Amino acid sequence: MADTTASTPPPAAEATSALTPINIVLLSLFIFLIYMRLKPAAPQTLPRAPPPTVFRTFTPPTLLPYNGLNGMPIYFAVRGRVFDVTSGRNFYGPGGPYANFAGRDASRGLACGSFDEEMLTKDLEGPLDKLDDLGDEEMEALQGWEERFSEKYLVVGKIVPVGSEEAT
Ligand code: HEM
Repeated sequence: MADTTASTPPPAAEATSALTPINIVLLSLFIFLIYMRLKPAAPQTLPRAPPPTVFRTFTPPTLLPYNGLNGMPIYFAVRGRVFDVTSGRNFYGPGGPYANFAGRDASRGLACGSFDEEMLTKDLEGPLDKLDDLGDEEMEALQGWEERFSEKYLVVGKIVPVGSEEAT
């Protein structure tokens, strides 16, 4: 009787030979690639937009609370423009070297390079400081500061005197 088992190996042996290490690696790679294709894409999250800046009209008294105290942002005015200098908290925040300018019209102090009390407009209800008495050198210094602030901080509004038609 002829031996038929010699030419066709038993089914178990066939299965074992298919599971060679290289086949296992290739199969794993195949499954991994299928998984990567079918995997649900991570939800797209867009970066959060910064809060919108509303351009406001301030008067000296309404600017005053913006001094970094009680969780308030820090603003100051320079020649009519109000800058949000909150990111410069180390300079203008409570205890900072330039905290005197916070919530105030800082124009004269910056122009004259002085922190003296009389540089700040005393009467918040009165007219704005027109800086009429300052010389070229002071006005140039002030312009230098304005250029620096314009590059570094956002303008969030303008300042007008109390009683002005624009005052809200
Ligand atoms: C003793 C003299 C002074 C020294 C040693 C001094 C030193 C400094 C230093 C190291 C900075 C940081 C600069 C930076 O990192 O960008 C700075 C910033 C500043 N200084 Fe002075 N300063 C002096 C006087 C003054 C005066 C007299 C004024 C004007 C009244 C002034 C106004 C300012 C302002 C407004 C800033 C911050 C500007 C910003 O927001 O980027 N400093 N100062």
